[in-house]
Amino acid sequence: MSTNHHTPSFSSKVGLILATAGSAVGLGNIWKFPYVAGENGGGAFLIIYLLCVLIFGLPLLMTELFIGKRSGKSAFGAFRAIRNNSRWQWLSWLCMITAILIMGFYFVVTGWCFHYLIAAIGHVFRGADAITLTEHFQSLTGNLPVTFGYTLLAILLTAAVLWFDVNKGIERLSKILMPLLLIMMFLMAGRVLMLDGSNVGMSFFFQADFSKITPQVVLAAMGQCFFSLSIGMGALITYGAYMPKSQSISATSLQVVLLDTAVAILAGVIIFPAVFAFGVDPAEGPQLVFVVLPAIFEQMSFSWLSSILFFSLLCIAAVTSTISLMEVAVAFVTDASSHTKHPINRHKAVILVGVIIVLMAALCILSPTIFGWFDKISSCWLMPLIALAMALFVGWFINKDDILHEFGSQRGWKHHLAFVYLQIIRYFIPLAILAIFLNGLGIW
Ligand code: TRP
Repeated sequence: MSTNHHTPSFSSKVGLILATAGSAVGLGNIWKFPYVAGENGGGAFLIIYLLCVLIFGLPLLMTELFIGKRSGKSAFGAFRAIRNNSRWQWLSWLCMITAILIMGFYFVVTGWCFHYLIAAIGHVFRGADAITLTEHFQSLTGNLPVTFGYTLLAILLTAAVLWFDVNKGIERLSKILMPLLLIMMFLMAGRVLMLDGSNVGMSFFFQADFSKITPQVVLAAMGQCFFSLSIGMGALITYGAYMPKSQSISATSLQVVLLDTAVAILAGVIIFPAVFAFGVDPAEGPQLVFVVLPAIFEQMSFSWLSSILFFSLLCIAAVTSTISLMEVAVAFVTDASSHTKHPINRHKAVILVGVIIVLMAALCILSPTIFGWFDKISSCWLMPLIALAMALFVGWFINKDDILHEFGSQRGWKHHLAFVYLQIIRYFIPLAILAIFLNGLGIW
């Protein structure tokens, strides 16, 4: 079986950009970014985050897409195909392990979103204040069977999309939904900025207090950058494999980075003014947006419709990301087994991966500590580590001329830029990630 015929092929450039953007824009931007920024000092975090996006995000997004485009394979077969040996196979396995850890908690949060959508439809939060909303969140996460039910719903829905191969339809749908999400968020930002005391939140988010920058803040910002852009787990290798040959990797990457960062900043502009206006602690953790968002809708006109619309869009943004996560694991299982005596077909792989995710998610539901570990280990350690290896792989083990050919022309400014890119992935990124690791461990 060929490595990749079951993943969507992109007939148009727009299709690829949408799929990559759909993978990038998700709970990482709207749920995780505000709460991690809130825990790590607001403005100081934002600056480090933006620096990370610029120096790690863009070049590494290009690198991962390049590995896919060059090999035409998924995360399992890519390194092997390019090097013609299996010495880099451990990297594929690391991608698989990371995918499983991320899915463990990501599906739980997607489940929370489904719950909030249904609550919004029932207009459960009419007139609720921050205290009631905090209690609501705690009673949801404290009710294990209900949380598990919603998580299962999220897993089944994603599995169904992969089972029936309907990602292309979802992609086309996101052509309408992504702009709608942006418009909706702009409206919410506009409303929130009219609240009394919103300026406190704006300065929390935009004024950097440099004394708050610690090694932990840098580590968190780097991890958030990888997570939000879907870098360092092999998801983009699969997408790169379907890139039309004529499509520019750098232009696609730039568009995705800009969109993803814009959504994250917009989420911050919505959440922080509201946090201070409603008297919520910005360092409250994973529950932050679930306490704040419903309260924002109560301030808006058409509160019922607005909240339903927003939570629907949030659920869809989450599911376009879970699709890309689960696809990595499903493609891995089918590809890894295809040369053995017992090849596993796509449907069986969806079931197998689904069962593994259910178990991992159950662990996260039972223990918030495990939830936190899965999140930290994958974002702050595994993804940067994988990305570091990918940078070394492309920088040192692929013919330099091929890279210059992909990213630049013979001469002129494009050639210079391609040359700069090569230096960045050869030296700068590996050393910088290493330094942040050592710093985070307190060794350096
Ligand atoms: N980037 C997504 C978000 O921000 C999460 C995600 C989807 C992801 N696919 C990924 C993260 C692959 C890492 C790797 O919500």
